[in-house]
Amino acid sequence: MKYRILLLNGPNLGALGIRQPEIYGLQGMDAVPGLASALLGLRFEQVQLDFFQSNHEGALLDRLEQAHHEKQDGIVFNAGAYTHTSLALADCLAWIRVPCVEVHISNVFARESLRRQSLLSRHTVGVISGFGILGYALAVQALVYHCDKSNIA
Ligand code: DQA
Repeated sequence: MKYRILLLNGPNLGALGIRQPEIYGLQGMDAVPGLASALLGLRFEQVQLDFFQSNHEGALLDRLEQAHHEKQDGIVFNAGAYTHTSLALADCLAWIRVPCVEVHISNVFARESLRRQSLLSRHTVGVISGFGILGYALAVQALVYHCDKSNIA
């Protein structure tokens, strides 16, 4: 069975590689499939990755709803600053019932205190923070294991 996983990025994450490289690194999302493939080995053939980025909250909501309607198997979500502010995105994750792993490139717990609060985490399977772009690949791996477990149960 092939798992369809959406990698969803929020505001300012379209500028990865350019934006504050001392915090967010020099790599863009194009590095993620290679990292995920290295982590998953042959199992990577069982995964289809879809990418979407928007600076607009409404567009992110629309894409989450689409993931629900298309019965996507999982979502890797870095909502950027909306993580800390968006009740609308949290409400959406609460009803779409697509397993979601929250990702942050930087270690948000080692930064300003307002970044320690996520409105989204309670609606996610888990959170990966501080491993740079590798975090997206780790999240894909985690979702594959999560989906396997759910399919057995
Ligand atoms: C971020 C952390 C957020 O606090 C910030 O607003 C971002 C990126 C991260 O990936 O580390 O835009 O989500």
